[in-house]
Amino acid sequence: MGDVLQINGLTKRYGNFVAVNDLSLSISKGNIFGILGPNGSGKTTTLGMVLDVINSTEGSYSWFGEEGNSNQRRRIGSILEHPIFYPELSGYKNLEIAALIKRVDKDRIEEVLKRVGLWVRKDSPFKTFSLGMKQRLALAAALLSDPEVLVLDEPTNGLDPQGINQMRNLIMNIAKEGKTIIISSHILDEIQKMCTHFAILKNGKLLKQGSIDEIVISKNAFFIAIENESSIEAIKTHPCFDSIEEKDGQLLVLFNDSVSGAEFNKFCFEKGVVLSQLIDHKSSLEEEFLEIIK
Ligand SMILES: Nc1ncnc2c1ncn2[C@@H]1O[C@H](COP(=O)(O)OP(=O)(O)OP(=O)(O)O)[C@@H](O)[C@H]1O
Ligand SMILES: [Mg+2]
Repeated sequence: MGDVLQINGLTKRYGNFVAVNDLSLSISKGNIFGILGPNGSGKTTTLGMVLDVINSTEGSYSWFGEEGNSNQRRRIGSILEHPIFYPELSGYKNLEIAALIKRVDKDRIEEVLKRVGLWVRKDSPFKTFSLGMKQRLALAAALLSDPEVLVLDEPTNGLDPQGINQMRNLIMNIAKEGKTIIISSHILDEIQKMCTHFAILKNGKLLKQGSIDEIVISKNAFFIAIENESSIEAIKTHPCFDSIEEKDGQLLVLFNDSVSGAEFNKFCFEKGVVLSQLIDHKSSLEEEFLEIIK
C-alpha cells in the first residue's frame, strides 16, 4: 500500500503567528484519515496547503509519490470550507459549470447527483437547498472527476443529526470503493465512527497519530477485578458480552451494546460472581482528546 499523501515538515506562518508547525504525516491508500483538532488548530490551513490553495512557509508534501503538479488535481476531489455555487442556478446547472471547469464529461452529472441523493432535486435552485443538501452537492462536485482521493474539511459541520448521518453514510460508502479519504473534524465521535486512522492537532502541532484500531474505542467497557478465573465463564454469558482482554494488567470487559455498571454488577451478583472492582472504561483517545482540547 503506497503512500497517497506524504507531508514533511509543513509549516505556515502568518507574521509571527504559527498556524501549522512542522507537520509531518503520511496517509496510505484506502485510509479514512481523520484530522482532529479544536477550532483554530490548523486543520483547514493544513488541507489548504496540500490542496495548493494556501502557500506553505516551509516544508513539502507529495501526492502519489510525486511533487505537487497539475495532473494530480483530477485524482483529488475536495471540499474546503464553504463550497461556492451560484444561488439562482439549479443543482444540475451548477454541476454543469463544475464539470466544464474540471473538463469532465457531462454524463457524470447524473451519476454523482444520484449518488448523493439529489437527482430528484436536480432542477431546484441552489438557494432553495437545505444546508445538508448544499453539502451533498459539494460532495457531488468533488466526485465529478471520479477522484482516487477525497479531501473533506469538516463535511458534517452545522448539519443536524439526520444530515450528519446521511453525510457519514455517503462518505463510508465511497470509502468502500477503495478510495482514500482525508477528513477534518473537531468532533472526536465523528472521527471514531468513520475513520481508520487519525491525527490530533493543537495550535498547529501534531500531538498524536495512529490507527483507530490500536485504541480501544468502545465506551461500553469496564475494568474489573475478580476473585477467581472461573468467573470469566459466567461473565461471558451476558447477552451483550463481546470480549474480555487483559489491558495494563487489568481485565477489560467489552460489551457490544450499552450496559450500565449497575446492570452489569447485578448480573454478576446473580451469577454468583463477586466483582472486587468495577470501573467504567473511557477510551484512551477520548480522554486524551478531552485533555488536549481543555
Ligand atoms: N489568513 C490568515 N491570517 C492570519 N491568521 C490566520 C489566517 N488563516 C488562519 N489563520 C489562523 O491560523 C490558525 C489555524 O486556522 P485554521 O482555519 O487552519 O484552523 P481550523 O483547525 O481549521 O479551525 P476550525 O475548526 O475553526 O475550522 C487560527 O488561529 C487562525 O486564526
Ligand atoms: Mg477549519
